[in-house]
Amino acid sequence: MKQLTDAFVLHNGVKLPCVGFGTWQTPDGETAVRAVKAAIEAGYRHIDGAAVYGNEKSVGEGIRSGMESAGVRREELFVTSKVWTTHRGYEKTLEAFEKSLHDFGLDYFDLYLIHWPANAGNCENWDEMNLESWRALTELYRAGKVRAIGVSNFLPHHLKSLMETGVKPMVDQIEFHPGYMQAETVAYCKENGIQVEAWSPMGSGAMFQNETVKQIAEKYGKTVAHVCVRWCLQHGVAPLPKSVTPSRIKDNTNVFDFVLSAEDMAVIDAMPLTGYSGNNPDTFNVF
Ligand SMILES: NC(=O)c1ccc[n+]([C@@H]2O[C@H](COP(=O)([O-])OP(=O)(O)OC[C@H]3O[C@@H](n4cnc5c(N)ncnc54)[C@H](OP(=O)(O)O)[C@@H]3O)[C@@H](O)[C@H]2O)c1
Repeated sequence: MKQLTDAFVLHNGVKLPCVGFGTWQTPDGETAVRAVKAAIEAGYRHIDGAAVYGNEKSVGEGIRSGMESAGVRREELFVTSKVWTTHRGYEKTLEAFEKSLHDFGLDYFDLYLIHWPANAGNCENWDEMNLESWRALTELYRAGKVRAIGVSNFLPHHLKSLMETGVKPMVDQIEFHPGYMQAETVAYCKENGIQVEAWSPMGSGAMFQNETVKQIAEKYGKTVAHVCVRWCLQHGVAPLPKSVTPSRIKDNTNVFDFVLSAEDMAVIDAMPLTGYSGNNPDTFNVF
Protein backbone atom coordinates (compact mmCIF):
# COMPACT_ATOMS: atom_id res chain seq x y z
CA MET A 1 0.00 0.00 0.00
CA LYS A 2 1.50 3.34 -1.05
CA GLN A 3 -1.40 5.76 -0.72
CA LEU A 4 -4.91 6.04 0.76
CA THR A 5 -6.56 5.11 -2.52
CA ASP A 6 -4.68 1.80 -2.71
CA ALA A 7 -7.02 -1.00 -1.82
CA PHE A 8 -7.49 -4.48 -0.44
CA VAL A 9 -9.48 -6.55 -2.93
CA LEU A 10 -12.44 -8.36 -1.37
CA HIS A 11 -13.26 -11.91 -2.51
CA ASN A 12 -16.02 -10.57 -4.80
CA GLY A 13 -13.54 -8.23 -6.53
CA VAL A 14 -14.72 -5.01 -4.80
CA LYS A 15 -11.85 -2.72 -3.77
CA LEU A 16 -11.63 -1.57 -0.15
CA PRO A 17 -9.51 1.61 0.22
CA CYS A 18 -6.79 0.55 2.65
CA VAL A 19 -7.34 3.09 5.47
CA GLY A 20 -10.88 3.93 6.59
CA PHE A 21 -12.05 6.91 8.62
CA GLY A 22 -13.80 6.04 11.92
CA THR A 23 -16.88 7.91 13.15
CA TRP A 24 -17.74 6.27 16.50
CA GLN A 25 -17.99 8.80 19.36
CA THR A 26 -17.89 11.63 16.85
CA PRO A 27 -20.56 14.01 18.16
CA ASP A 28 -23.59 14.35 15.90
CA GLY A 29 -24.07 17.71 14.17
CA GLU A 30 -21.41 20.20 13.05
CA THR A 31 -18.51 18.21 14.55
CA ALA A 32 -19.35 15.11 12.52
CA VAL A 33 -20.00 17.11 9.35
CA ARG A 34 -16.66 18.92 9.69
CA ALA A 35 -14.67 15.80 10.60
CA VAL A 36 -15.92 13.77 7.63
CA LYS A 37 -15.48 16.71 5.25
CA ALA A 38 -11.91 17.18 6.55
CA ALA A 39 -11.24 13.47 6.08
CA ILE A 40 -12.31 13.49 2.43
CA GLU A 41 -10.25 16.65 1.84
CA ALA A 42 -7.27 14.89 3.46
CA GLY A 43 -7.63 12.01 0.98
CA TYR A 44 -9.58 9.34 2.88
CA ARG A 45 -11.90 7.50 0.50
CA HIS A 46 -13.37 5.05 3.00
CA ILE A 47 -15.78 6.12 5.76
CA ASP A 48 -16.86 3.74 8.54
CA GLY A 49 -20.30 4.46 10.01
CA ALA A 50 -23.00 2.63 11.97
CA ALA A 51 -26.59 3.26 13.02
CA VAL A 52 -25.69 3.03 16.71
CA TYR A 53 -23.18 5.89 16.41
CA GLY A 54 -26.19 8.21 16.24
CA ASN A 55 -24.58 10.51 13.68
CA GLU A 56 -25.41 8.98 10.28
CA LYS A 57 -27.28 12.06 9.00
CA SER A 58 -24.33 14.30 9.86
CA VAL A 59 -21.79 11.83 8.47
CA GLY A 60 -23.84 11.76 5.25
CA GLU A 61 -23.82 15.56 5.15
CA GLY A 62 -20.05 15.54 5.72
CA ILE A 63 -19.68 13.13 2.80
CA ARG A 64 -21.65 15.41 0.45
CA SER A 65 -19.77 18.46 1.66
CA GLY A 66 -16.36 16.75 1.29
CA MET A 67 -17.23 15.40 -2.15
CA GLU A 68 -18.07 18.89 -3.29
CA SER A 69 -15.04 20.65 -1.82
CA ALA A 70 -12.56 17.93 -2.84
CA GLY A 71 -14.14 17.25 -6.24
CA VAL A 72 -14.70 13.57 -5.45
CA ARG A 73 -17.38 11.41 -7.10
CA ARG A 74 -19.55 8.96 -5.15
CA GLU A 75 -17.97 6.02 -7.02
CA GLU A 76 -14.57 7.02 -5.60
CA LEU A 77 -15.82 6.64 -2.04
CA PHE A 78 -16.36 3.51 0.01
CA VAL A 79 -19.08 3.92 2.67
CA THR A 80 -19.90 1.37 5.37
CA SER A 81 -22.80 1.05 7.80
CA LYS A 82 -23.82 -1.65 10.26
CA VAL A 83 -27.02 -3.13 11.66
CA TRP A 84 -27.18 -2.84 15.46
CA THR A 85 -28.10 -5.57 17.97
CA THR A 86 -31.65 -4.21 18.33
CA HIS A 87 -32.39 -5.12 14.71
CA ARG A 88 -31.33 -8.73 14.44
CA GLY A 89 -33.29 -11.09 12.20
CA TYR A 90 -34.47 -10.87 8.60
CA GLU A 91 -37.23 -8.20 8.70
CA LYS A 92 -35.59 -5.87 11.20
CA THR A 93 -32.26 -6.00 9.40
CA LEU A 94 -33.93 -4.93 6.15
CA GLU A 95 -35.64 -2.05 8.02
CA ALA A 96 -32.36 -0.97 9.63
CA PHE A 97 -30.62 -0.98 6.25
CA GLU A 98 -33.24 1.27 4.66
CA LYS A 99 -33.14 3.68 7.61
CA SER A 100 -29.34 3.99 7.51
CA LEU A 101 -29.36 4.46 3.75
CA HIS A 102 -31.99 7.18 4.14
CA ASP A 103 -30.12 8.87 7.02
CA PHE A 104 -26.87 8.88 5.04
CA GLY A 105 -28.77 10.27 2.03
CA LEU A 106 -27.24 7.62 -0.22
CA ASP A 107 -28.73 5.19 -2.70
CA TYR A 108 -26.32 2.34 -1.98
CA PHE A 109 -23.70 1.33 0.58
CA ASP A 110 -20.35 -0.13 -0.37
CA LEU A 111 -20.34 -2.37 2.69
CA TYR A 112 -23.00 -3.38 5.21
CA LEU A 113 -22.10 -5.35 8.33
CA ILE A 114 -23.82 -7.20 11.17
CA HIS A 115 -22.38 -5.12 14.03
CA TRP A 116 -22.19 -7.87 16.72
CA PRO A 117 -23.09 -11.56 16.56
CA ALA A 118 -26.07 -12.95 18.39
CA ASN A 119 -24.21 -15.19 20.83
CA ALA A 120 -24.69 -17.96 23.37
CA GLY A 121 -24.76 -15.34 26.14
CA ASN A 122 -27.75 -13.41 24.77
CA CYS A 123 -29.73 -15.67 22.46
CA GLU A 124 -30.75 -19.32 22.78
CA ASN A 125 -30.89 -19.83 19.00
CA TRP A 126 -27.97 -17.47 18.25
CA ASP A 127 -26.77 -19.35 15.18
CA GLU A 128 -30.21 -19.25 13.49
CA MET A 129 -30.57 -15.60 14.44
CA ASN A 130 -27.26 -14.70 12.76
CA LEU A 131 -28.31 -16.72 9.70
CA GLU A 132 -31.58 -14.75 9.50
CA SER A 133 -29.74 -11.41 9.64
CA TRP A 134 -27.31 -12.76 7.05
CA ARG A 135 -30.21 -13.80 4.77
CA ALA A 136 -31.31 -10.16 4.72
CA LEU A 137 -27.78 -8.99 3.86
CA THR A 138 -27.41 -11.53 1.06
CA GLU A 139 -30.76 -10.40 -0.37
CA LEU A 140 -29.67 -6.74 -0.29
CA TYR A 141 -26.39 -7.74 -1.92
CA ARG A 142 -28.11 -9.71 -4.69
CA ALA A 143 -30.48 -6.77 -5.27
CA GLY A 144 -27.46 -4.49 -5.83
CA LYS A 145 -28.23 -2.20 -2.87
CA VAL A 146 -24.83 -2.89 -1.33
CA ARG A 147 -21.56 -3.79 -3.09
CA ALA A 148 -20.19 -6.03 -0.33
CA ILE A 149 -21.49 -7.55 2.90
CA GLY A 150 -19.86 -8.82 6.03
CA VAL A 151 -19.81 -9.00 9.78
CA SER A 152 -18.18 -7.36 12.75
CA ASN A 153 -16.93 -8.94 15.95
CA PHE A 154 -17.62 -12.46 14.67
CA LEU A 155 -15.31 -15.18 15.98
CA PRO A 156 -14.66 -18.32 13.89
CA HIS A 157 -17.54 -20.26 15.52
CA HIS A 158 -19.95 -17.40 14.68
CA LEU A 159 -18.70 -17.33 11.08
CA LYS A 160 -18.91 -21.06 10.44
CA SER A 161 -22.62 -21.33 9.47
CA LEU A 162 -22.48 -18.18 7.35
CA MET A 163 -19.68 -19.72 5.31
CA GLU A 164 -22.06 -22.45 4.16
CA THR A 165 -24.84 -20.17 2.85
CA GLY A 166 -23.48 -19.65 -0.66
CA VAL A 167 -22.39 -16.05 0.04
CA LYS A 168 -19.31 -15.89 2.27
CA PRO A 169 -18.82 -12.71 4.32
CA MET A 170 -16.36 -10.41 2.55
CA VAL A 171 -15.22 -8.56 5.69
CA ASP A 172 -14.92 -9.13 9.44
CA GLN A 173 -14.36 -5.87 11.35
CA ILE A 174 -12.82 -6.69 14.73
CA GLU A 175 -10.96 -5.02 17.58
CA PHE A 176 -7.33 -5.09 16.47
CA HIS A 177 -4.50 -2.95 17.81
CA PRO A 178 -1.11 -3.39 19.48
CA GLY A 179 -1.82 -5.35 22.64
CA TYR A 180 -4.96 -7.06 21.28
CA MET A 181 -4.67 -8.75 17.91
CA GLN A 182 -7.11 -11.72 17.96
CA ALA A 183 -4.67 -13.97 16.11
CA GLU A 184 -7.05 -16.92 15.84
CA THR A 185 -9.84 -14.91 14.19
CA VAL A 186 -7.41 -13.17 11.84
CA ALA A 187 -5.90 -16.53 10.79
CA TYR A 188 -9.38 -18.00 10.18
CA CYS A 189 -10.35 -14.98 8.06
CA LYS A 190 -7.13 -15.14 6.03
CA GLU A 191 -7.63 -18.87 5.37
CA ASN A 192 -11.19 -18.20 4.20
CA GLY A 193 -10.62 -15.09 2.08
CA ILE A 194 -12.36 -12.72 4.51
CA GLN A 195 -10.75 -9.26 4.73
CA VAL A 196 -10.14 -8.12 8.30
CA GLU A 197 -10.73 -4.49 9.29
CA ALA A 198 -9.25 -3.11 12.52
CA TRP A 199 -11.52 -1.19 14.84
CA SER A 200 -9.86 0.99 17.48
CA PRO A 201 -6.48 0.70 15.71
CA MET A 202 -5.06 3.07 18.35
CA GLY A 203 -6.86 1.29 21.18
CA SER A 204 -9.42 4.13 21.27
CA GLY A 205 -6.54 6.35 22.41
CA ALA A 206 -4.90 3.92 24.88
CA MET A 207 -1.86 3.45 22.62
CA PHE A 208 -0.76 7.05 23.15
CA GLN A 209 0.32 6.12 26.69
CA ASN A 210 2.08 2.90 25.73
CA GLU A 211 5.88 3.01 26.18
CA THR A 212 6.65 0.22 23.66
CA VAL A 213 4.72 1.89 20.84
CA LYS A 214 6.04 5.33 21.85
CA GLN A 215 9.66 4.12 21.69
CA ILE A 216 9.18 2.52 18.27
CA ALA A 217 7.51 5.71 16.99
CA GLU A 218 10.47 7.80 18.22
CA LYS A 219 12.94 5.47 16.54
CA TYR A 220 11.29 6.06 13.12
CA GLY A 221 10.61 9.77 13.73
CA LYS A 222 6.88 9.01 13.44
CA THR A 223 3.88 9.30 15.78
CA VAL A 224 2.15 6.58 17.80
CA ALA A 225 -0.83 6.91 15.42
CA HIS A 226 1.43 6.31 12.40
CA VAL A 227 2.93 3.19 13.98
CA CYS A 228 -0.50 1.75 14.86
CA VAL A 229 -1.95 2.37 11.39
CA ARG A 230 1.20 1.09 9.69
CA TRP A 231 1.31 -2.03 11.88
CA CYS A 232 -2.26 -2.89 10.81
CA LEU A 233 -1.45 -2.39 7.12
CA GLN A 234 1.69 -4.55 7.36
CA HIS A 235 -0.52 -7.29 8.84
CA GLY A 236 -2.83 -7.04 5.81
CA VAL A 237 -5.59 -5.57 8.00
CA ALA A 238 -7.48 -2.36 7.08
CA PRO A 239 -7.30 0.20 9.94
CA LEU A 240 -10.14 2.66 10.70
CA PRO A 241 -8.49 5.51 12.66
CA LYS A 242 -10.92 8.06 14.11
CA SER A 243 -10.37 11.69 14.99
CA VAL A 244 -12.43 14.87 15.17
CA THR A 245 -9.27 17.02 15.16
CA PRO A 246 -8.49 18.32 11.64
CA SER A 247 -4.68 18.33 12.12
CA ARG A 248 -4.77 14.70 13.37
CA ILE A 249 -7.19 13.61 10.64
CA LYS A 250 -4.66 14.77 8.06
CA ASP A 251 -1.50 13.74 9.87
CA ASN A 252 -2.76 10.19 10.58
CA THR A 253 -2.57 9.53 6.82
CA ASN A 254 1.22 9.94 6.70
CA VAL A 255 1.89 6.24 6.94
CA PHE A 256 3.32 5.48 3.51
CA ASP A 257 6.85 6.88 3.94
CA PHE A 258 8.23 4.25 6.33
CA VAL A 259 8.20 0.51 6.90
CA LEU A 260 8.26 -1.16 10.30
CA SER A 261 11.06 -3.74 10.38
CA ALA A 262 10.22 -7.41 10.97
CA GLU A 263 11.89 -7.05 14.40
CA ASP A 264 9.71 -4.10 15.40
CA MET A 265 6.56 -5.82 14.09
CA ALA A 266 7.49 -8.79 16.29
CA VAL A 267 8.05 -6.54 19.33
CA ILE A 268 4.56 -5.03 18.90
CA ASP A 269 3.01 -8.46 18.24
CA ALA A 270 4.50 -9.70 21.52
CA MET A 271 3.03 -6.90 23.66
CA PRO A 272 0.94 -8.10 26.60
CA LEU A 273 -2.80 -7.40 26.68
CA THR A 274 -3.11 -3.61 26.40
CA GLY A 275 -6.01 -1.29 25.63
CA TYR A 276 -8.58 -4.11 25.28
CA SER A 277 -12.14 -2.71 25.25
CA GLY A 278 -13.40 -5.63 27.36
CA ASN A 279 -16.13 -6.37 24.80
CA ASN A 280 -16.25 -10.13 24.28
CA PRO A 281 -18.24 -11.30 21.20
CA ASP A 282 -19.38 -14.40 23.12
CA THR A 283 -21.13 -12.35 25.80
CA PHE A 284 -21.57 -8.82 24.38
CA ASN A 285 -25.17 -7.89 25.04
CA VAL A 286 -26.21 -4.29 24.46
CA PHE A 287 -29.79 -3.58 23.47
N1 LIG B 1 -17.41 -2.59 14.83
C1 LIG B 1 -17.28 -2.21 16.08
O1 LIG B 1 -17.81 -2.85 17.00
C2 LIG B 1 -16.46 -1.00 16.38
C3 LIG B 1 -16.12 -0.70 17.72
C4 LIG B 1 -15.34 0.43 17.95
C5 LIG B 1 -14.90 1.21 16.89
N2 LIG B 1 -15.27 0.91 15.60
C6 LIG B 1 -14.82 1.74 14.44
O2 LIG B 1 -13.42 1.94 14.53
C7 LIG B 1 -13.15 3.35 14.55
C8 LIG B 1 -11.88 3.66 15.33
O3 LIG B 1 -11.97 3.22 16.67
P1 LIG B 1 -12.03 4.24 17.91
O4 LIG B 1 -12.80 5.41 17.52
O5 LIG B 1 -12.45 3.43 19.09
O6 LIG B 1 -10.55 4.60 18.26
P2 LIG B 1 -9.13 4.90 17.59
O7 LIG B 1 -9.26 5.33 16.17
O8 LIG B 1 -8.27 3.76 17.94
O9 LIG B 1 -8.71 6.17 18.49
C9 LIG B 1 -9.43 7.36 18.47
C10 LIG B 1 -8.94 8.24 19.62
O10 LIG B 1 -7.57 8.61 19.39
C11 LIG B 1 -7.48 10.04 19.33
N3 LIG B 1 -6.50 10.35 18.28
C12 LIG B 1 -6.64 10.15 16.94
N4 LIG B 1 -5.52 10.51 16.29
C13 LIG B 1 -4.67 10.98 17.22
C14 LIG B 1 -3.36 11.52 17.16
N5 LIG B 1 -2.70 11.62 16.00
N6 LIG B 1 -2.76 11.92 18.33
C15 LIG B 1 -3.42 11.79 19.51
N7 LIG B 1 -4.66 11.29 19.64
C16 LIG B 1 -5.29 10.89 18.50
C17 LIG B 1 -8.87 10.54 19.01
O11 LIG B 1 -9.05 11.85 19.55
P3 LIG B 1 -9.81 13.04 18.78
O12 LIG B 1 -10.98 12.46 18.05
O13 LIG B 1 -10.21 13.93 19.92
O14 LIG B 1 -8.81 13.69 17.87
C18 LIG B 1 -9.74 9.52 19.74
O15 LIG B 1 -9.80 9.83 21.12
C19 LIG B 1 -14.43 3.92 15.18
O16 LIG B 1 -14.52 5.32 15.05
C20 LIG B 1 -15.48 3.13 14.44
O17 LIG B 1 -15.67 3.63 13.13
C21 LIG B 1 -16.05 -0.18 15.35
